[in-house]
Amino acid sequence: MDTIYTKRWLSVAVTFLGVGGSFAFLIALSRTPFGHAHFPEGFMFQGIVGHVVLAIVMWLMSFTVVLWSIYLKGRVWRGSYHLAIAGAILVTVSVFTGSGKAIVNNYVPTIDDPLFFFGIGFFFAAFAINGLSYLASAIYQLRSKEPLKCAISFSVLIGLLMMISLCVSLLLGSGQEVEPRMAYFEKLFWIPGHIQQVLNGALLIAVWYALRSALGLPNHDRVWLRPFNWMLLLSALVLFIIPFVTDPVSRNAKIGAEIIYGVGLGIPVFVHAINILIGLSKAKGNFSGVVFLSLVLSMAIYFLGIAIAYTGLGNDTRVPAHYHGAVTGLTLAMMGLTYTLVRSSAGAKGVLEKFARIQPVLYGAGMILVILGLMVSGMFGAPRKTYGVAFASDPLVLTALTVMGIGTLMAVFGGVLFVSYSGIKLLGRREF
Ligand code: HEM
Repeated sequence: MDTIYTKRWLSVAVTFLGVGGSFAFLIALSRTPFGHAHFPEGFMFQGIVGHVVLAIVMWLMSFTVVLWSIYLKGRVWRGSYHLAIAGAILVTVSVFTGSGKAIVNNYVPTIDDPLFFFGIGFFFAAFAINGLSYLASAIYQLRSKEPLKCAISFSVLIGLLMMISLCVSLLLGSGQEVEPRMAYFEKLFWIPGHIQQVLNGALLIAVWYALRSALGLPNHDRVWLRPFNWMLLLSALVLFIIPFVTDPVSRNAKIGAEIIYGVGLGIPVFVHAINILIGLSKAKGNFSGVVFLSLVLSMAIYFLGIAIAYTGLGNDTRVPAHYHGAVTGLTLAMMGLTYTLVRSSAGAKGVLEKFARIQPVLYGAGMILVILGLMVSGMFGAPRKTYGVAFASDPLVLTALTVMGIGTLMAVFGGVLFVSYSGIKLLGRREF
């Protein structure tokens, strides 16, 4: 483990989550009855671009490099996190300056401006360079008896497949109609975005196992688990092939992608979750600890989000309700693992340490309220990505969006606690 490298990438990841979280505060409150009037309507779409790109792309993918640097061996290029930082700065500047039109397509919403594209390009290049650096070690470890190391190894293959799929998407898109921009970017990022969710599934499994071992519990190798890891890789491969055989955003392709989510991604995560829960009660004396709470709340949030998807999604706020289940479940697990990595560092003692102990509950409970608020308002037709509440007169929808707003305040406070605690700890040491 290259400890300086790991620490640098963790610092980068925590910073991205902080910036992504500040955009979340802005766009979430722009959707509440009590808050929207205090936020500029014109910034809503830029805010969504900033939130989604910094959170789901840069925070999650930077933390992926942190995990690779801890559990794999590789000759890494140290300049890669400088490239990632440069990318994030360009993206954030283009969001704030509104240098181009904000296009809120799925998976990677964009600012239609070279500044943004250079930024996201630099970041993806930094990620791909790391994937290639750890590829040999990942292939060697694919048959590891340790479920954690196995999941990490599959995440490298799936992560690289996502990058190749992005290049394929660009090539297949070149020479095609680029207007309207929304349709063009929706198609460009559709399959790479889906493959990223399979990557997130592999990461979720790995981080849950890491939290379980941080509780002092062994991670048993179970032969019957292996096929489920290969199922994840197979799902990513089938998604990868779709653009070669049909229009990836056609109705049939979308149905196919949803079945892959429900079966190829949902089942492996579910089976590993059962394996992780077996014997968890043996974590005696740890039940109130940050690690235990992060693990259990992360699972609760993830399965709440997945249950929303299995009950059927309309094109309304049930989609972000589902999304936030999946990705903030993962985020909370990563926060718990960060805590285990930095807690022995100097600094952040006393009050902040006490607050850090309630951080998983604040963030977890807050996100559950955000998800339930978005779900209920969606069930009554609340549209996605819409400023204010002018579309709603139903008191149930207004109440649900208020609950989402209260959850946002709790989750953002939990996020601020996490970023400040781990930030101070990371500043307090040169390496792990
Ligand atoms: C403080 C915590 C967070 C809050 C309050 C929050 C709130 C929101 C809100 C209000 C939206 C817009 C939904 C709409 O108007 O349709 C949104 C979109 C989104 N957020 Fe978050 N978010 C948070 C954390 C995160 C994190 C940590 C991630 C990823 C790691 C994430 C990923 C996304 C994605 C992918 C979308 C786009 C959803 C879509 O396309 O419908 N969020 N978020």
